[in-house]
Amino acid sequence: MHVPVLLNEIIENLNIKEDGIYVDCTLGLGGHSKEILKRLSEKGLLIGIDQDEEILKQAKENLKDFKNVLFFNENYTALPEILKKTGIEKITGGVLLDLGVNSLHLDIKERGFSFQNEAPLDMRMDIRSELTAYDIINHYREEEIADIIYKYGEDRFSRRIARKIVEVRKKTKSIKTTIELSNIVLSCYPKIKWFKTHPATKTFQALRIVVNKELEVLDKSLRFIPELLYEKVRLSVISFHSLEDRIVKNFFKGCEELKIITKKPITPTEDEIRDNPRSRSSKLRVAEKL
Ligand SMILES: C[S@@+](CC[C@H](N)C(=O)[O-])C[C@H]1O[C@@H](n2cnc3c(N)ncnc32)[C@H](O)[C@@H]1O
Repeated sequence: MHVPVLLNEIIENLNIKEDGIYVDCTLGLGGHSKEILKRLSEKGLLIGIDQDEEILKQAKENLKDFKNVLFFNENYTALPEILKKTGIEKITGGVLLDLGVNSLHLDIKERGFSFQNEAPLDMRMDIRSELTAYDIINHYREEEIADIIYKYGEDRFSRRIARKIVEVRKKTKSIKTTIELSNIVLSCYPKIKWFKTHPATKTFQALRIVVNKELEVLDKSLRFIPELLYEKVRLSVISFHSLEDRIVKNFFKGCEELKIITKKPITPTEDEIRDNPRSRSSKLRVAEKL
């Protein structure tokens, strides 16, 4: 069951106007959007974007009781074109980005996001895109793999892991599954009985970020979103790791078109973390168009 993260905080901070036009750039299963839609009048509109076809199908089902919602199976970098197609000049309500994967991604084992299930090394959110985790693990050079794991996974054993990956792929011809990769990572860590988080977490995060170009897409999109906003309209971004949060923080700081609403990021309450451990690392930053 996917529970929307920082839901009350999002609703409070979006300053919902009942006739506004809202964009949920990362619709997911529609948890946040449902609460926005409940607060809109017939004149209000919500545009829901998700690059994952399977997830979008679920969102349509979850939001089937609402009429004023349009769905787009696109990357949110296509937002300017989506608005053009829809005949919308400016966003008058608000914009939400709730970054990263959906818990459903981790549950559908064939997608290869989770190191706990045997699956092909895929990790694409948009199955129309070409690059998979398999390509990186089996075709990139050792130094490239090490850099990816270091930069996007912040794993201090990155070099050791990359060396082992290349060693194993030479021996076995290819590394095909999530469990094979997870075992390779595990073998590069010191032999202790218990880890706070599984050693493969960082390598899997790094691969997912690169396969889906997550940081590039975020950075590129933040640059065009402000000019799509009507004055006093808010942009809310929930991030899940420091690499994403740094991009959002620095962009908000340097953007002359925006006023920062959250001097410090909003984080989940202890109750939320207890009920939904996935919310633990989330940070919400909000800015408003001047
Ligand atoms: C954390 S989930 C969003 C959950 C949602 N807020 C809810 O309440 O159900 C992130 C979603 O954004 C989608 N996504 C991630 N990056 C995207 C991108 N660049 N363009 C479009 N969708 C993206 C993922 O497929 C995933 O379904």
